[in-house]
Amino acid sequence: MHVLATQRLPGPAWDELDDVEIGALDRRRDDVEALVAPGVRIDDAVLDLFPALRLVANFGVGYDQVDVAACRARGVEVTNTPGVLDAATADLAFALLLATRRRLVEGDGHVRSGRWGTGWSQTPFLGRDVSGSTLGIVGLGRIGSALARRARGFDMRILYHQRTRLDEPGLEFRSLPELMRESDVVSIHAPLTPQTKGLISRDQLALMRDGATLVNAARGALVDEGALVEELVSGRISAGLDVFVHEPAVPEALFGLPNVVLTPHIGSATVETRAAMTRVVVDNLLAAERGEPLLTPVI
Ligand code: 8YV
Repeated sequence: MHVLATQRLPGPAWDELDDVEIGALDRRRDDVEALVAPGVRIDDAVLDLFPALRLVANFGVGYDQVDVAACRARGVEVTNTPGVLDAATADLAFALLLATRRRLVEGDGHVRSGRWGTGWSQTPFLGRDVSGSTLGIVGLGRIGSALARRARGFDMRILYHQRTRLDEPGLEFRSLPELMRESDVVSIHAPLTPQTKGLISRDQLALMRDGATLVNAARGALVDEGALVEELVSGRISAGLDVFVHEPAVPEALFGLPNVVLTPHIGSATVETRAAMTRVVVDNLLAAERGEPLLTPVI
C-alpha cells in the first residue's frame, strides 16, 4: 500500500512502513492509497487528487481537520490516535493550570531580567490557590478524566459538564453556565465539532469569577477567541492556552499580558507520547495493507 506522508513521524515504528514517500499533497496522484498529513485540512479538494485513496491516518486524537463526511462518501476510512496521549495532554493542561495560577512564567522572567534584587517581600508575585480550589472540566472524556485524576491529588473540588451525565463519585455534574460560575479554573477537553464550535461563548466567559482561570489544551475554536482576548486584556481573568483558532497565528494582544501563559500546541509533545502516536498510525496503516480491521477507526 503506497503511503504519502507530509512528514516523517517521530519514533521507531515509522521504519516498519516499506512503501512510504514524504511529500506534499499538491498534485494528482493515482498511486497513493493512504495519507498521513498532520495539520493539513483533508477535504474534497484534497481527496479529488487521490482517487485510489483508502485511508487517512490522522496523527492525533482530534480529527477536526479531516472532513469525515467527504471521506465517508468516497469510501475512504479515517483513523485517529486515542488513548496514548491522554496522560501527556492532561499533564500539559495541569502544567498550564499551575503556571498560570502561580504566575510561574512572570516570575521566571522577573528573575532572569535581574530585577529581583530586593528580597522576596518586595516582589510578592501573589498568585491564586490551586490546592483546594474548584476545577470545572468541560468534556469528561479520556483526557478530561485524566485531568480529574491529577486534580484529586491537589484536593480540588471537581465539577464537570458534558452531554452525558455520569455517576462518578467525587465528580459533580453542572450545566455549562453553572460550571462557568462556580469554578476557579475551567479546563476544556471537548472535541471540536460543528456542535461544540464556540461553546465557550462571550456570555459563558462573562460568567467566570473575577480572578478565575481558563485552560485550553483542546482546540482554539471551542472558545470565542475575540471575547476571550477582551476578558484577558481587561485583566479580569487569566488563561493558560496551548491552542488557538488560527494556529500558528496567536492574537497579538496576548503577547504583552502578564495574566496569560502561552504554549505552541504541545499537549501531546513528549518523545514517548509522540512515538506511541506514531505506533498507532503505523499499526492502522499495516492493518489496512493486510486487509485486517483497523485498530482505531473514526469511520
Ligand atoms: C497532535 C492533538 O499533536 O491529538 C490531538 O488532537 O491536538 C495533538 O496531539 C496534533 O493534532 C498534531 O497532529
